[in-house]
Amino acid sequence: MDQNRVYFFDTTLRDGEQTPGVALRTPEKIEIAKGLVRLGIDVIEAGFPAASPGDFEAVQTIAREVKGTTICALARCNEKDVIKAIDALKDAERSRLHVFIAISEIHMQYKLKMTREQVLDKVKAILELAKGKVDEIEFSGEDASRADLDFACQVYGTAIAGGATIINVPDTVGYMMPQEFASKIRYIKEHTPGVEKVIISVHCHDDLGLANANSLAAIEAGARQVECTINGLGERAGNVGIEEVVMSLKTRHDYFHDLQVNIDTKQFTKLSKLVSRLTGVAVPPNKAIVGSNAFAHESGIHQHGMLSNPETYEIMTPESVGAEKTNIVLGKHSGRHAFEDHLKNLGFHQTFTEEKINDLFAKFKDLADKKKQVYDDDIIALVVEHMDHKKAFELVSQHYQLGEKGYAYADVRLNTPDGERADAAVGDGPVDASLKAVERVVGMPISLKDYQIRAITAGKDALGEATLKVEYNGRIFHGRGISTDIVKSSVNAYINAVNSIFLAMELEQQEEE
Ligand code: KIV
Ligand code: ZN
Repeated sequence: MDQNRVYFFDTTLRDGEQTPGVALRTPEKIEIAKGLVRLGIDVIEAGFPAASPGDFEAVQTIAREVKGTTICALARCNEKDVIKAIDALKDAERSRLHVFIAISEIHMQYKLKMTREQVLDKVKAILELAKGKVDEIEFSGEDASRADLDFACQVYGTAIAGGATIINVPDTVGYMMPQEFASKIRYIKEHTPGVEKVIISVHCHDDLGLANANSLAAIEAGARQVECTINGLGERAGNVGIEEVVMSLKTRHDYFHDLQVNIDTKQFTKLSKLVSRLTGVAVPPNKAIVGSNAFAHESGIHQHGMLSNPETYEIMTPESVGAEKTNIVLGKHSGRHAFEDHLKNLGFHQTFTEEKINDLFAKFKDLADKKKQVYDDDIIALVVEHMDHKKAFELVSQHYQLGEKGYAYADVRLNTPDGERADAAVGDGPVDASLKAVERVVGMPISLKDYQIRAITAGKDALGEATLKVEYNGRIFHGRGISTDIVKSSVNAYINAVNSIFLAMELEQQEEE
């Protein structure tokens, strides 16, 4: 371990996927994972294999297909979880098992219903089971920031004795103040047996908006791994955004004694856009580093200063995070090669087949015919919409007609697992009528729980994106669709949600066999 280097562990695909309303499919996770490799990430937490068959499959596929970094899987401190995680990781170039158990009194008493001794025994037993079966083991004491510090040191010491080489100190509920957290890290560094041989990691949630401050304070106190996500996604208020920690260390290298960071910061903007599009979670315009206003100077005084010398108001350049203006990039006269090249510039690293590129290019031409100006965000949306994954249902055609008093009539034709099927329905407006028609074709009791529509770029001819949530058998599924016609976006979003239900059912069936 290099003490002058800070290692970055990305958990966008695990804690980030716990963001309310986020559900990623395996091809989308692979795209993000490949983007993270381009960023130079040290470790990718690919998922929690015991959580569902879909999670297992995603971690296994990432372990097989994503090379050039360490792939990590999360497991609770029990045999079943650990065996599943080790199994999912077996094809990784370098594998890391991440085991966790709660160590604060409140969690042990009310959640685990376990005593301190039982927790210590569990850690010992689980490490014995896992040792030697993966390249490295990370141990996390969940809610460590609220745990008794001497007990925390005892648990971490037990984990180190059992073979863990990374000990993670999560501020699970985002409760810490920076100096308080730093002093806890120092205490752990001074009082944990064997700590000199391992990396201390931190995992800060942002419930009080202090995740970056707490991560940086922990680094000052000796932590050398930071767990983070792209755009600060994560459970509740999220985890710390990698872009914030890295740019703080780089911009203030004078303050942080030139600590080394192996991250290609020029990748931040495109990766942020890709993750935002794939997860459906918009980046606030005023978000540090990757928000659309992060480098915009509005007031006259600022603009004047910027013209005389950019350093008057700019502590880092837009170029350093890949945020230089690209504006309109391609139009209807652009060729197929320019289009293919541009996909790479936008951060898509899947190896698209000839056929897929041709198909995407045809769709791009179609869009360029409908829209005067095609922006990067339009192209990202288009590719994401047509990313390869198994689709049980696909829209063939849809029509609607407006009637009196806001009523509408709609018909749809879909490709289904039983061949082409069509049906029609009447509803309150064209979206309602079209979704009802889809429901009739699908023939499953699905209820719509949330529905939103927004423009992806500016202008009257902008692509409209529909995102929705549906409930089936007590579970929530997500769907997203885009088109210049918002009724079609809505129908596609609904069909995508139905496809997610089918995928989940299929994976569960495979699990049972
Ligand atoms: O927030 C948390 O404590 C976690 C652990 C699993 C590390 O996500
Ligand atoms: Zn967390």
